[in-house]
Amino acid sequence: MIYKANIRPAWVVLVMLILFTLAFTLVKISDTKQITVNSQAQQEKPVKVDLTRFKNAEDNEVCLNCHGQSKYIYEKPGSQKTITKRMYSELVMDRDLFYASNHREFKCTDCHSEDYATFPHDNNLRMEAIATCIDCHGGDEKYAQFKFEQIESEFQASVHSEKHSEDFTCWMCHDAHSYKINARNTENLKETITYDNQICLNCHGDFKNYELLTSKLKPNILQKHEWLPNQASHFTHVRCIECHTANKDTLVVAHHVVAKNQAVRKCESCHSKNSILYASLYKYQVSEKLQNKGVILGMLMGGTTSVGPDVSNRLNVISLVIFGFTVLLILIHAGLRIKK
Ligand code: HEC
Ligand code: HEC
Ligand code: HEC
Ligand code: HEC
Ligand code: HEC
Ligand code: HEC
Ligand code: HEC
Repeated sequence: MIYKANIRPAWVVLVMLILFTLAFTLVKISDTKQITVNSQAQQEKPVKVDLTRFKNAEDNEVCLNCHGQSKYIYEKPGSQKTITKRMYSELVMDRDLFYASNHREFKCTDCHSEDYATFPHDNNLRMEAIATCIDCHGGDEKYAQFKFEQIESEFQASVHSEKHSEDFTCWMCHDAHSYKINARNTENLKETITYDNQICLNCHGDFKNYELLTSKLKPNILQKHEWLPNQASHFTHVRCIECHTANKDTLVVAHHVVAKNQAVRKCESCHSKNSILYASLYKYQVSEKLQNKGVILGMLMGGTTSVGPDVSNRLNVISLVIFGFTVLLILIHAGLRIKK
């Protein structure tokens, strides 16, 4: 015997609606509670790459067979023996991040010596000089929009460059194998903030990298910012560079990191109608590309107490979802009616 339930479609829809709203709220809550002052937290990984899309992928695999994971298998020429060895963790690089980076079309040996093709590598290769950003991008019309020369001179004036002129290079912040432009094209402010802050935290949150450059004791970042209330919220809503660089309107990303006693400390610098953030963090959002997404509205709503466009973004999503559901509801209802 078949039990025939007498459930009205409206009930089904109602239960679905409640469940969905609940799930949506939970997701939203969980993604606002994150703060990372820890460089172990890696950049978000892109989806597995399709290697056939990259013309140099096959060549690169030769290197990545050893440098792409935590162990490598090596067959001594002339002998049948193979050995399996652990790759030094600092020499392991992430394939997926590489093929999502700005320089994804490169061959490893465009930047590294061809002599790396032989293994064991020649010891002298350690001393190889690698081209700098300016070597390739300087004076090139194609990249004029980035203003490499201005970035270079801001960098020269920064605390990092002044204190460590030779050994502190652009590569220190722009990881050779994963750097990709972010803020310029951002559609997700939060991801950009995380990405940009991670660049600083690679050293200021990780003693291993910091001590390569200085014998100074590592300052405790959280303790040094104790004067700032809601630290977790601030570090996920603003970038380190907002407070630590002399911002000039002519660059998308200011590079002049100033001495600590010149860092922004006044709350009103941001929490006011003429917040400095409009000229830095939020300026991409004023760009036409993003204008019809409601962020401008958010900035106006920001007013004096809350600066972020985040709030209105969330409201936008919620109202879209509600709208979508109303339409769905009507459609289902109509569909069932017609069936009857
Ligand atoms: C058979 C495994 C193997 C292959 C293939 C291989 N490497 Fe290596 N590579 C290593 C090991 C092990 C080290 C660390 C020991 C050393 O420096 O020789 C290393 C070190 C390096 C270093 C760092 C040197 C330093 O200490 O500064 C670079 C750069 C490098 N490899 C690039 C490459 C490139 C580029 C390729 C491809 C053209 C390549 N490797 C292919 C195993 C390999
Ligand atoms: C755009 C230039 C560029 C390309 C392309 C490039 N590298 Fe590098 N690589 C560098 C630079 C610069 C460094 C030194 C970083 C530093 O000194 O901090 C480096 C360092 C390394 C190291 C030493 C460990 C480290 O991270 O410092 C290894 C191993 C390495 N590269 C392997 C590779 C392999 C394998 C590929 C190809 C998949 C590759 N590189 C492609 C620029 C490049
Ligand atoms: C060996 C030469 C070389 C070096 C060194 C180099 N680049 Fe590039 N870079 C290129 C080339 C060539 C492209 C274009 C790649 C393409 O179109 O696929 C590129 C692309 C880029 C892009 C993307 C441009 C766009 O319009 O999408 C940025 C940003 C960039 N590089 C920044 C840097 C920075 C920052 C450094 C130093 C940390 C650097 N590059 C070092 C050659 C280089
Ligand atoms: C102290 C860290 C640091 C150093 C050193 C550094 N940068 Fe940057 N750079 C950043 C950060 C953070 C961003 C923002 C990344 C993003 O969101 O696109 C950035 C962005 C960029 C961009 C993209 C700007 C745009 O208009 O989209 C370029 C180009 C660039 N840097 C070049 C350089 C060059 C050239 C050097 C060396 C002269 C250098 N950087 C040194 C931290 C650094
Ligand atoms: C709201 C503004 C603000 C933000 C955001 C901010 N800082 Fe600071 N930071 C300051 C000020 C102001 C000081 C000076 C504190 C002092 O001297 O007591 C400082 C001090 C520092 C120092 C010097 C510590 C020392 O005494 O040697 C470092 C390094 C630093 N910040 C790094 C960072 C990094 C990395 C981030 C991002 C994760 C960041 N800051 C975010 C305002 C800020
Ligand atoms: C490659 C490692 C590294 C990266 C990446 C890095 N820093 Fe630093 N930073 C240092 C070191 C080392 C010092 C200490 C300099 C010294 O010897 O006094 C320092 C010092 C500072 C200071 C203190 C200057 C003072 O007055 O004492 C500030 C502020 C700072 N960094 C901010 C930043 C910001 C903001 C970023 C990201 C845009 C960043 N750093 C990225 C290594 C790094
Ligand atoms: C570099 C800019 C900047 C500076 C300087 C700054 N704030 Fe903020 N603050 C922000 C941003 C952005 C947010 C996130 C606003 C949002 O949630 O929309 C925030 C959030 C807050 C919040 C939490 C609001 C909430 O609803 O979560 C408080 C409280 C706060 N700030 C107080 C202060 C005080 C007090 C100072 C000075 C000691 C200060 N801020 C300095 C940018 C700044």
